[in-house]
Amino acid sequence: MKALLILFVLMNLDKLLKTGRCTETQDQILSITPKTQEQVDILKNVSTQYETALWQPVSPQYIKEETEVHLYVPANSSEIVKDLLQKHAITHGVLLANANELIEMQTRNGSTDPRSSSTFYERYHSLDDIYHWINRTQQENPNMVKTILIGSSYEKRPLYVLKLSINNRPNKKAMWIDCGIHAREWISPAFCLWFVQNSLSFYKLNQDITRILDNMDVYILPVMNPDGYHYTWTTNRMWRKNRSVSKSSNCIGVDLNRNFDANWCTEGASDEPCTEIYCGAFPESEPESQAVANFLRSHKDSVQFYLSIHSYSQMLLFPYSCTLDEAENHKDLLEMAQEAAQAIRRYYRNTYKYGSGAKTIYLAPGGSDDWAYNLGIKYSFTFELQDRGRYGFLLPPSLISRACNEALIAVKTIALKVIEKTKASASHP
Ligand code: ARG
Ligand code: ZN
Repeated sequence: MKALLILFVLMNLDKLLKTGRCTETQDQILSITPKTQEQVDILKNVSTQYETALWQPVSPQYIKEETEVHLYVPANSSEIVKDLLQKHAITHGVLLANANELIEMQTRNGSTDPRSSSTFYERYHSLDDIYHWINRTQQENPNMVKTILIGSSYEKRPLYVLKLSINNRPNKKAMWIDCGIHAREWISPAFCLWFVQNSLSFYKLNQDITRILDNMDVYILPVMNPDGYHYTWTTNRMWRKNRSVSKSSNCIGVDLNRNFDANWCTEGASDEPCTEIYCGAFPESEPESQAVANFLRSHKDSVQFYLSIHSYSQMLLFPYSCTLDEAENHKDLLEMAQEAAQAIRRYYRNTYKYGSGAKTIYLAPGGSDDWAYNLGIKYSFTFELQDRGRYGFLLPPSLISRACNEALIAVKTIALKVIEKTKASASHP
């Protein structure tokens, strides 16, 4: 027993020494639950004054007592941040001690690692890889896939939408999915790729996919914020906004999910360019949100189901997020989200919360889902995929398939409901 203890101490000696000296070599994610108003204020300061990135909540203004905060702390700020916490008797847990390793794991490409057995869709991909994939997917499936250029980003990268279309029935309806509004939510573009792959491979094999594609065209925008996404691959993994330069400030980027014209820049958004929830200079000031809005405006008669994919926190949200008011078809939306959450529970034993955005997370005006809803797309949703904070934005590649499959079953459940409901209303107007 004694020998074992000594062995254990020896094996962990370097770790003990390191933690004793408080010099972290790795970026970390801390979990901190403030207990008093004073602690709340200290945390707000820490997250704004030091080189850290707030993971949860999205902005320091939402930090409150007894609510868990997830804070990304780079190695070089670790000592000062931890000292500050200690000085004010704020306890913290370490959610992830090895963020750099996880980032490395996410950017390593399977092709450079011969032992990897994961497929293309079980890995994360750089923006260039995604552009190549778009090209290849269209070329390999000329009868089912078209690419549509809907605009370009602030830094002039193309915004391509894939249109999956099986037949040309008159008055065919459509659904829309966008991914990657927020740059650091890498599971989101991964889902769009997964969805396309699954649809193309299982048409005529899977009954649900077949029914969906027989009844609807599907528009997929795999990366709405290519500049931000590229930046997370090259420079700052924690970047959220786009990369537009502000006239009034040195801070860069607009939160594209605060830039749509739905109670734009009211409570839950900020007109301060240095915040993560900056709403931009005016509604649709950003080329990315404008491109999406223009496309949907010109397709609003066919598009009946709008879906935007985010992470993390495992939620199926619907309008409104920009007001506490209930949507006119709240009951329908609630029922659909509930059914989708039940399907995830049944097939994957995982829990998703559901409800209107404002009541389930927080007021967040200027979102694409509320805007699409007000445009007349009555079935409008935002999904927050895995996880609930274990890995947060650094979800390892090995968890991509679970995360995407459970989201896929939710999408299918809702799409089938939309088809059913719109058929019923077409036959008894
Ligand atoms: N967490 C996301 C955000 O902060 C989604 C919010 C839900 N929808 C919305 N329209 N705000 O943007
Ligand atoms: Zn997001």
